[in-house]
Amino acid sequence: MSVIGNQKQIYLQIIGRLQPYFRTDANLPERVQKLLAREKRFGSRDRRLYRELIYTTLRYLPWVEPLFERDPDRAAAMVAWLASNSAATANYRSEMALDWPHCPDTLSAKADILNLKPEELLPTWFQEECPAALHPKENDTMHRRASLWIRLQTTKPDLVLAEFDRQDWAWSRSKIKTDAIELTPDASVANSKSYLNGAYEVQDLGSQLVLASTHIKAGEQWLDACAGAGGKTLQLARILGPEGIVTAHDIRPSAIDELLLRADRSGLQNIRTASLPIINKYDGVLVDAPCSGSGTWRRAPHLKWVNGPSKIEDYARLQLELLETYAKAVRSGGKLIYATCSLNHSENASVIAEFLAQYPDFLIEPPENNFGFEPQPWGLTILPSQHNTDGFFVSSMRRK
Ligand SMILES: C[S@@+](CC[C@H](N)C(=O)[O-])C[C@H]1O[C@@H](n2cnc3c(N)ncnc32)[C@H](O)[C@@H]1O
Repeated sequence: MSVIGNQKQIYLQIIGRLQPYFRTDANLPERVQKLLAREKRFGSRDRRLYRELIYTTLRYLPWVEPLFERDPDRAAAMVAWLASNSAATANYRSEMALDWPHCPDTLSAKADILNLKPEELLPTWFQEECPAALHPKENDTMHRRASLWIRLQTTKPDLVLAEFDRQDWAWSRSKIKTDAIELTPDASVANSKSYLNGAYEVQDLGSQLVLASTHIKAGEQWLDACAGAGGKTLQLARILGPEGIVTAHDIRPSAIDELLLRADRSGLQNIRTASLPIINKYDGVLVDAPCSGSGTWRRAPHLKWVNGPSKIEDYARLQLELLETYAKAVRSGGKLIYATCSLNHSENASVIAEFLAQYPDFLIEPPENNFGFEPQPWGLTILPSQHNTDGFFVSSMRRK
């Protein structure tokens, strides 16, 4: 069998093993990782090829899945044709799609060639939760591979950028946030000298815009109530400066351990952790709530199929509960920021509307900077296509 024929068979076997979990396993990326790591016959390029094919399958599942039983060869060829081009996929793509026309850039042109519809790729419940996603430009962006964004946290950014040049990593500076740099997804930024020195952190631009959309005063004391591994904690610590303090909290001790490693690497001295944070009052509280992740489908396409209306209802209940709990820690006159990486109305505007109805001592504050997005009564929705980011929602409130 030819090399490509063999790779096609391996791809179909992998899909056969993963398919039962496509709509059920929220930890599918870990499952994929383990499955690829276990195969000793794979080199790193093979792993990158199969990973890209698996993720492409998940991105385009409604187009591809019906073919797996009926015509697996066509399914494999379609996935190869739709996959992004990289050193790992180039050969396979060109051989597998020999008889296919050139793959066009846009989703609608791809759909035309396949005689399929772009909107079929979005779950019907999501079309109601986020009608903006049906716009061809938005839907197109949501089906591309995500860029890699970093946030500079150094007084010598030129040294970082010179290192990127030496590594031959193409980079460009964001037009709306000068310390945000976009790189191609394959740049191995976590191995660079500048990274190990703490000169930058990997953080999607959309995530950076959450805090950048609202004014936060240097020198304040803040609580990051759902800090996770600290993506936003580190950004907040820099905004607050040496006179300010961020207290980070999360229910996952392993996330806090990672946060402390990152804080150490970045050299920031103004980050504390607390296991009982609501006994204090703070100038500001950030609730970056757990969510269905519909803003992150480019990186985690399985979440599109794993999370449906009932899970979203569960998330919305938890989000309101967390907002109520941590709002208690905001001093009077202080600020409360609610954020999610979801684009779902039920997890965003509805949660804020319900919270404000119950807690009239909090009032919405309009964003300081809306980065070109349409201002809405309950907050700002950061849609992926405008600045090539993940999708986020952020609402800023002030306690009377
Ligand atoms: C969206 S993630 C946070 C991401 C993080 N802020 C960042 O910027 O990288 C949500 C976090 O909420 C945490 N969480 C869930 N329930 C919680 C609770 N009751 N109190 C505090 N954190 C909670 C989760 O462990 C998870 O790390």
